[in-house]
Amino acid sequence: MSEPVLTISGLNVDYGTGDAAVHALRDIDLTLHRGEVLGLAGESGSGKSTLAYAVTRLLSPPGVITGGDVRYHRRDGEALDLLTLSPAELRAFRWQELSIVFQGAMNSLNPVHTVHSQLTDVLKAHRPEMRRPERTARAEELLSLVGISTDRLSAYPHQLSGGMRQRVMIAMALALEPEIVIMDEPTTALDVVMQRQILRQLVKLREQLDFSVVFITHDISLLIEFSDRIAIMYGGRIVEEAGASDIYRDPRHPYSDGLLHSFPALHGPRRELTGIPGSPPHLSAMPAGCAFHPRCGKALDPCATQVPVLSRPDGGDSRTVACWLHQEAPAQAAATSRP
Ligand SMILES: Nc1ncnc2c1ncn2[C@@H]1O[C@H](COP(=O)(O)OP(=O)(O)OP(=O)(O)O)[C@@H](O)[C@H]1O
Ligand SMILES: [Mg+2]
Repeated sequence: MSEPVLTISGLNVDYGTGDAAVHALRDIDLTLHRGEVLGLAGESGSGKSTLAYAVTRLLSPPGVITGGDVRYHRRDGEALDLLTLSPAELRAFRWQELSIVFQGAMNSLNPVHTVHSQLTDVLKAHRPEMRRPERTARAEELLSLVGISTDRLSAYPHQLSGGMRQRVMIAMALALEPEIVIMDEPTTALDVVMQRQILRQLVKLREQLDFSVVFITHDISLLIEFSDRIAIMYGGRIVEEAGASDIYRDPRHPYSDGLLHSFPALHGPRRELTGIPGSPPHLSAMPAGCAFHPRCGKALDPCATQVPVLSRPDGGDSRTVACWLHQEAPAQAAATSRP
């Protein structure tokens, strides 16, 4: 695996403070390596967007980071502690080193400005040395990169299809050649064919421009196809992380297995779609022990009372999983399977 570009350790996020606080993220450990596409999957409410907002310091109240460490590693080896950057340092960091395409971003283009003016505004703000013709040339280049004809520069957002608007957002995110691009469910409003097209393009661009991607979605079948590694979240924790093909062939966490059986795979052998019984827990009523145990067909006794920590069932770095099925259960708890 290549060197890390972003390391998250022990990250905790709450919404609210004091007695009203609910834990949205718990003990998140995650590493993004240079040049890789890391997929983040999990049902609605599992904390995917909260994680994206927390690492980019865009979390707004009542969200608070209550612990942990997030570091960005420059190519020269210098590590930046993202949780202590000043507002000015953060402004320089965002877009230049890390950019984020938000959930629902295709609707966040300004309807009264042309694509040209929105793309060149980013350049104007961050590259004051660029002159107008250079900015226009770069805007054309960016549009071509994402597969849109340059004559659409003069278009207004409403004159573009949803897929095109999404690509414009991606072009904007790439404008300053950041090292990391985080895409938070950028494609849910698009049809499946368009989603795959955009993702395929992104992976190609990643090879061309050598950036790393965190791609967030609830549709794990897209991630199997396009990402190098996948981290799966449930109830604010990462429950499994492994190479995409390892997750596909041999998911170890019953929740990963459930997710894989919730979406039709586009390639490979057919799987029966069984889904996951029940629904995700609410933050204010998180089950004790493993948050997934009430929905889990394989729950053991300790699952209801003790939180399993991420461990390495195979030794080495290739896979981590937080599940009592795959680690030594606490001594006093007998591993009697439930019906
Ligand atoms: N501003 C907020 N105040 C209180 N709770 C919040 C706030 N924003 C999010 N939450 C809660 O935090 C949890 C995680 O939300 P988050 O948006 O990170 O989930 P997600 O995995 O991105 O879901 P989705 O797939 O629906 O986008 C949810 O239970 C949500 O209700
Ligand atoms: Mg979200």
